[in-house]
Amino acid sequence: MAGAAMNDNFSFRTALAGCLSPILILLAACGQQGGQAGSAEEAPLAGAAIGGSFSLINQNGEWVTDQTFAGKYRLMYFGYTFCPDVCPVDLQRLMAGYRLLEKQAPEVAAKLQPIFITIDPERDTPDVMKSYVAAFHPKLMGLTGTPAEIADVAKRYAIVYGKAEGSGTTDYLMDHSNQTYLFGPDGKPIALIPQDGTAEAIEGELQRWIK
Ligand code: NI
Repeated sequence: MAGAAMNDNFSFRTALAGCLSPILILLAACGQQGGQAGSAEEAPLAGAAIGGSFSLINQNGEWVTDQTFAGKYRLMYFGYTFCPDVCPVDLQRLMAGYRLLEKQAPEVAAKLQPIFITIDPERDTPDVMKSYVAAFHPKLMGLTGTPAEIADVAKRYAIVYGKAEGSGTTDYLMDHSNQTYLFGPDGKPIALIPQDGTAEAIEGELQRWIK
């Protein structure tokens, strides 16, 4: 990974040195695969008050905080494993995009950690999360916690959720916000990733922002 990053820097500098005008620099940058073309583009979520610290438990029963992901881009999706339709379809699409990224640009994919955080901590124990996330991608990390911990992380990440009206005590549905975030290596929000898009669209958005 370090080697790949150095190569990117090197080719970018070479492009700059070889160019006589800003237009040529832009052209050179655009010619690089998923390269620096987007670096001048402002991130749609730049400066948004979304994100922050959390302390949760992953599908292997290990404590994880936001600092665990320091230096990595994070693809974050909130939902629940008992969701009958939307969550599994979203996760399937997101991981199809991530798989495509792994294939097209493994060095870019290596900078990204996909994360699924439950908003149904009462039923989504680490064990339940473990078999669920494994069904989508071996690198997808599933995070759960106490109801208070989940309420806290949801609030920081602007996710609204609650039991659907008329649901039973155990066999209930959850209503929840349904957005996928890309966060930067510094933990700051970058963009929403369209989880209803094709694998190509999702992969393209990831390539656009991950440098
Ligand atoms: Ni859902």
